[in-house]
This record gives sequence, C-alpha cells and structure tokens, in this order.
Amino acid sequence: MKTASINGVEIRYRDEGTGRPLVFLHAFPLSQKMWNDQVAAFAPSFRVITFDWRGFGESSLPEGSSEMASFADDLIGLLDLLEIDRAVICGLSMGGYAAFSFLSNHANRVKALILADTRATADTEEGRNNRLTMAALVREKGPTAIVEQMTGRLLGAKTIKGNPEAVARVRSMIEANQSEGIARALLGMAARPDSTPLLATIACPTLIVVGEDDVLTPPADAKAMSAGIAGAELEIISNVGHLPNIESPSEFNRILQGFLDRLP
Ligand code: MLT
Repeated sequence: MKTASINGVEIRYRDEGTGRPLVFLHAFPLSQKMWNDQVAAFAPSFRVITFDWRGFGESSLPEGSSEMASFADDLIGLLDLLEIDRAVICGLSMGGYAAFSFLSNHANRVKALILADTRATADTEEGRNNRLTMAALVREKGPTAIVEQMTGRLLGAKTIKGNPEAVARVRSMIEANQSEGIARALLGMAARPDSTPLLATIACPTLIVVGEDDVLTPPADAKAMSAGIAGAELEIISNVGHLPNIESPSEFNRILQGFLDRLP
C-alpha cells in the first residue's frame, strides 16, 4: 500500500502490475479491499489501481465535503501523480456516482467505462431523507450501528445464507471505517446531481454489470443506463446482489476480462 498527498488528503492506494491502466472505484461504506479478488485477477495483465476514497479505509478525511465532485478531484489528482493519461475506469455503486462526476469533466481521460451496480439518477426525496437519518445515526453510534442494515442490503439473500466469508468481509470493511467519513459520503451522495443527461455524451466503450438480486440499484437501473449509452453492453449476474465482485468474483472477473479483451 502506498500513500499520495492529494487535495489535502492522504490517499492510500495500490498500483500493481503493468500494462493498460485499470482503475477500480469502491462502493459505500466499504474500502478498496473490496477489490482484492480483482487485483489478484487483473494485475498479471493490467496496471491495476485501487484506492480508498477520502474518509474511507486508510485514507484521511480532510476538512470540507465528500461530494462526488471531491472524489472525482481526488481521482484526477491520483491519475496525474501516477502519470496515467487514460484509464479504464470501473466504478461500483458510489464508485459509479463518482465516475459520472469524473466523466463530466475528464471524459478524455477515460479509455473505457465499467459501471457496476450503480445508477445515473439522483436520489429521490425519500432516499435523501434516509441518508440524513443514517448520517445522524452513524455520527451518534458509529459504523457498527449500520452494519446489519447495510450488509443485508449490499449482499444478495443467497450470499447471506451460503457465503459467510463474504458476509464477514463486508462487515469488517464497514466496521473499520470512520463515522465521519461515512456520514460525509452520505451527505455527498444525497447532494449528487442527476447524471442521466450525461449518458448520451458517453462515447467510450461501456460495460454495465449488475447483480440479478441487487435491491439497492436493481437491474432496472442498469437497463435504463444501458438504453441511454450508445453501444453499451449489459450483463446481469445471477444469484448475487449489489456486490457481484465479492459475491461471485469468478463470474464478475470473467465478464470484465471478456470486455477488456475486446477493447481496441
Ligand atoms: C454503495 O454501494 O455505494 C451505496 O450503497 C450506494 C447508495 O447508497 O446509493
């Protein structure tokens, strides 16, 4: 693990392998550890970058907001520091929201896009209110207060029943995070704009992946994004929820590998 100072944040990151740059953006309220199986699978043939968003994992939380635009600013800072001109960007859920923010200013830095279990739309009023309630709860009681609720929504029912290792991995990532980092990201997600108008402008090869049993960003959201992006490929992974890269890493990796192999 390495550390980069960017925008007043100590960003902890991994930079493994050589070849075409492939950057993975993690979900809420997890950390770059969610990508361990992808680092292992892709570092032999790509330059794989993962990092902890500000306030998550081992990255510091600076003063100021954790809006998706701040995440995107940290990402461009990291790419500049690593002298990466263009990368394949893979964002899962909140990582996808940040990828949209990044695309709106830096589309020329994106070689290809992978949107996993995410959505282009902004929060509904109800969704925003739920985030404010959760932020207050985390600030008062810490990450353990949201572990049960979040694990139950992040993982598919079949994973919860039959894959205790995945459940333990997700729980430990949530519990290792700082309350304030989680709370600020909740406010950041609540404030994110509708990225639907951006879809028609996306000109790079795009793969959309979603777990069949995802209740947070269901297949209907993936289909809507796919309909809005010219030439987008859509893959629905059976028997998994919101975190197919953890719940079914071999299938997730197989789909990504196929897409990456077809890139010009
Ligand atoms: C995530 O997985 O990043 C979050 O659950 C997304 C969200 O809450 O909208």
